Amino acid sequence: MTKISTYEIDIVKRETSKIHDVDFDNLSFGRTFTDHMFYCDFIDGEWQQPKIEPYGPMTIDPSARVFHYGQAVFEGMKAYKDDDGGVFLFRPQENFARINKSAKRLAIPEFPESYFFEGLTTLLNLDKDWIQSGKGNSLYIRPFVIATDSAIAAAPSQNYRFMIICSPAKAYYKGTVKVLIAEEFSRSANGGVGFAKAAGNYAAQFYPTNLAQEKGYQQVIWTDADTHTFLEEAGTMNVFFRIGDTLITAPTSDRILDGVTRKSLIQLASDNHINCEVRPIKVNEIIEASKSGTLKEIFGAGTAAVISPISAFEYAGTEYNLPEINEHSYSSILKQNMLNIQHNLAEDKHNWRYEIK
Ligand code: COI
Repeated sequence: MTKISTYEIDIVKRETSKIHDVDFDNLSFGRTFTDHMFYCDFIDGEWQQPKIEPYGPMTIDPSARVFHYGQAVFEGMKAYKDDDGGVFLFRPQENFARINKSAKRLAIPEFPESYFFEGLTTLLNLDKDWIQSGKGNSLYIRPFVIATDSAIAAAPSQNYRFMIICSPAKAYYKGTVKVLIAEEFSRSANGGVGFAKAAGNYAAQFYPTNLAQEKGYQQVIWTDADTHTFLEEAGTMNVFFRIGDTLITAPTSDRILDGVTRKSLIQLASDNHINCEVRPIKVNEIIEASKSGTLKEIFGAGTAAVISPISAFEYAGTEYNLPEINEHSYSSILKQNMLNIQHNLAEDKHNWRYEIK
């Protein structure tokens, strides 16, 4: 292994890349990782010298608090390559701000901005061959922080590890998705951590999602914990409803993730002169709209899934089908707009692209 020391980061490079063993046409989401990983430890009240090393297992004490209390937060980002080999991130400043917002809620120290961007840039430059060009291809980037103290008292850790790992990705969901609207279980509550990308938010969904899957639904649309009458978020995504020619999505709150894709779609809808209302939306409203034929689309929106059209939903034992989507569907129009900006194929009038140099 070659050891290079740069100004900011200690780098140990892998001698031979694993890339030749990868079948890029048959990737399962999040199972293949690039050659390197970035990490930085928080010890004695300070973030230490960041490091990049070959991707691989690491040693952590079994008593580390992350294993016992789930003190962990993460982000989801993507890098895209254009046909000239340029590499771009999409609104990375939003992810940086959000990981620190999540960290604060979980009593994790904030990570310095310069380390975040230097880490990302250096890692992506080392592993850029793993990014395939073309719409539909991307490199999924997973920054995360875990509590590493060897101590099982239920208290915030003194030590942490911030890491970035990367995984080449294609579609998250294959085809359309059927969802079950939650009537019993809840994802988040007022004053809780629903707005944060806290690891436990996702673990808590696995059991209800398994039950939904047994009934033939891939995801759950979460409703408000108090009354189960307001539609909030869909599993790994924010969710949009089209009634007539109006898009509707729930406002963010301490229960709902402030999704980067969500806020970009609200802007793109406006750019396309599509009326988009950000307001509470009731389950009854979409059921009535479905019955009267005005419910035209439901789609999830998130970094991993991009835009994921929903073909049917179940509520109180009844399944409601959505019309088939076509190239004029709002989900298709907005998805193409997003992908074109992300892949450097369209004008970036909001300054969302961030080139890795
Ligand atoms: C993302 O869209 O980046 C997410 O964080 C969803 C993830 C749980 C796959």
